[in-house]
Amino acid sequence: PYSSDIEISPVNYGANLGHKKVSVVGCGQVGMAIAYSVLNQQSAGTIALVDMNREKLEGEAKDLEQGSAFHQQVRILASDEYSVSANSHMVVITAGAAQRPGESRLDLVERNVAIMQNIIPKVLTFSPNASICIVANPCDLMTAVAAKIAGPSVPAGRIFGSGTCLDSSRLRSLISKKLDLDTSAVGGYVIGEHGDTSVPVWSSVTVGGVPLLGHGQDPSKMHDDMHKEVVDSAYDVINKKGYTNWAVGLTGAHIAKTCLNDTRRIMPVSTCVRGLKGIKEDVFISMPAAIGSTGVQRVIDLPLTDKETEKFLHSADTIWDIQERVWD
Ligand code: 2OP
Repeated sequence: PYSSDIEISPVNYGANLGHKKVSVVGCGQVGMAIAYSVLNQQSAGTIALVDMNREKLEGEAKDLEQGSAFHQQVRILASDEYSVSANSHMVVITAGAAQRPGESRLDLVERNVAIMQNIIPKVLTFSPNASICIVANPCDLMTAVAAKIAGPSVPAGRIFGSGTCLDSSRLRSLISKKLDLDTSAVGGYVIGEHGDTSVPVWSSVTVGGVPLLGHGQDPSKMHDDMHKEVVDSAYDVINKKGYTNWAVGLTGAHIAKTCLNDTRRIMPVSTCVRGLKGIKEDVFISMPAAIGSTGVQRVIDLPLTDKETEKFLHSADTIWDIQERVWD
């Protein structure tokens, strides 16, 4: 069957996985959950950990390495020097202050902008061609700031944020629980800000490929309550255990796998949405996008109802109000 004119898709080049390097900058609860998930998914041959706290880092690296009898050929590197991240295919940034109980993601802006200004030039010095995924909060603003710091020499899309990939997973898991189905049976997106003004696109939700709502049917109070639960869940988890890490860790690893394997899966991530729904500014919020080795390769102009569009534009305005200030 393999005549010479059949093009074999480069998507499944599993044999090359061993050469892929991912660096995680910021090795707190979130960074380590991402590293641990990447390790278990065996989507990279090398995982480099970068953190200012050298001693903790040595402990983390040692702890991971000592499980090496049970994972395959993953090299773990760790240092407080960015040189350890050299020639990464992808860099995931989680460094920064995290929300304390009662704080919103947007409360972190100033503290984390300064941290981003320090990190991005160093990351780019050692891995000028890496895709960079920002997970640090407030995710959308940090992504915009990182893209601005990197400047026009880094192609659009190479720097993107994990955004509402996590919120979408939360919504899909709530729906699937209600229907007693596997989460993979439920499709659909939460878009906009990763946080309080996120928009559940009920018109995009499918169960087994079938739209959940009938044509023109508005979401009910039950649907609104479910989205409220999505928005409240980070606050709830932070109140109960002090931080969130496992769901965001799996989200980061899913994005890393897609990027490192150049799989072109579609997922909502934070990227510049200028041109969509009449948006005229370079605002960064989430829309579904195809992810490959160079980051965001295509943004999908998701069809929205009028009410969804209104909410999406409100989310864009909320972020742009702050982004405009921190961009200067
Ligand atoms: C989360 O949503 C706090 O952004 C973090 O889990």
